[in-house]
Amino acid sequence: MLSDSLPWFASAGLLAGTLAGAHAQPTLKDAFKDSFLVGAALNPEQFSGKAGCENSLIVTQFNTISPENVLKWGRVHPEPDQYNFGPADRYVEFGQKNHMFIVGHALVWHHQTPPWVFRDEERNLVDRDTLLKRMHDHIATVVGRYKGKIGGWDVVNEAVDEDGKLRQSPWLKIIGEDYILKAFHYAHEADPGAELYYNEYSAENWRKRAGTIALIRKLRSQGVSIAAVGLQGHYTMDWPKPRALDKTIKAFAALGVKVSVTELDVDVLPSPTSSQAAEVSLSFARQPKFNPYTNGLPVSVERALAERYAGLFAVFVKDREMMSRVTFWGVTDASSWLNNWPIRGRTSYPLLFDRDCSPKPAFDAVIKTAMARACK
Ligand code: GLA
Repeated sequence: MLSDSLPWFASAGLLAGTLAGAHAQPTLKDAFKDSFLVGAALNPEQFSGKAGCENSLIVTQFNTISPENVLKWGRVHPEPDQYNFGPADRYVEFGQKNHMFIVGHALVWHHQTPPWVFRDEERNLVDRDTLLKRMHDHIATVVGRYKGKIGGWDVVNEAVDEDGKLRQSPWLKIIGEDYILKAFHYAHEADPGAELYYNEYSAENWRKRAGTIALIRKLRSQGVSIAAVGLQGHYTMDWPKPRALDKTIKAFAALGVKVSVTELDVDVLPSPTSSQAAEVSLSFARQPKFNPYTNGLPVSVERALAERYAGLFAVFVKDREMMSRVTFWGVTDASSWLNNWPIRGRTSYPLLFDRDCSPKPAFDAVIKTAMARACK
């Protein structure tokens, strides 16, 4: 019988999308279609269709997209009276054309927000009411423009510090603790149909997790509807341990929200810091010892990365009922931010596709975690 000679995923309908030019393999979005959405963060080249082989990967592998930068305040609203919607419009059109779930990122954050937002014409800090009005108008304009098109928004990004307390950002200092509540209200007002998310890094560490849990609990008791907590997922080869990840997912799910992994990558390069914070302002000098794989990844490291990804996805698959999405921060190793953070100009290998858009052993390892579930 024909079906006996086909691999299991053929009969499971997973051959619908195959990698361009490669032998038939299940795609990420098909392999996990009963578990969660699988996405990638895109840059303008990619959503304008000018990214060569990455473009075929994007449409075959992923069913949700996030904007790497074009919806951050500094890009979309650089001056008080100037909105720059061109790139964001193209991002949204790309998602619509390809029938993808479109994520908006990020409305309120302390980085990539221009200094004018917090200051008056004399460069003094503005008062609470002025900043609330600016926040309101920004959210109403940006969320309003994509009402019914962007399915979910990262409303507030990184409001909790490593010690679990609220971060001393200009938002907190000027408005006070309720800036988060207000941001969620304004976003809901602008598009009542959109899912709203709180997004955070290192919530797998207990202090930060405790602080984030307290925040979500409080917001929910104030009537804020939060669809999901986003774990950014900027991971290393040994952090977080799968057990801590599992515990984190369960802790948030117990609050009655879904969990998404919103910016997944695994850094294989030696780190110049012991910090686990994906703090974008970190920057270190270039040194050869921190850039050891300029001529390719040794097989042993390639294998270790595949095992690491298998360990992470085993947790996601096990906890799938608590999860809504896993989004990678980039498409191939070539376009990852980790080539330039926290040291500029390194050769990094954090994703599932290599610089030629070929699936890495880590891709096969991830697909296998879906197969293991399907075979049970
Ligand atoms: C944070 C932000 C993202 C992105 C990454 C690094 O995680 O949420 O938008 O800037 O840092 O690229």
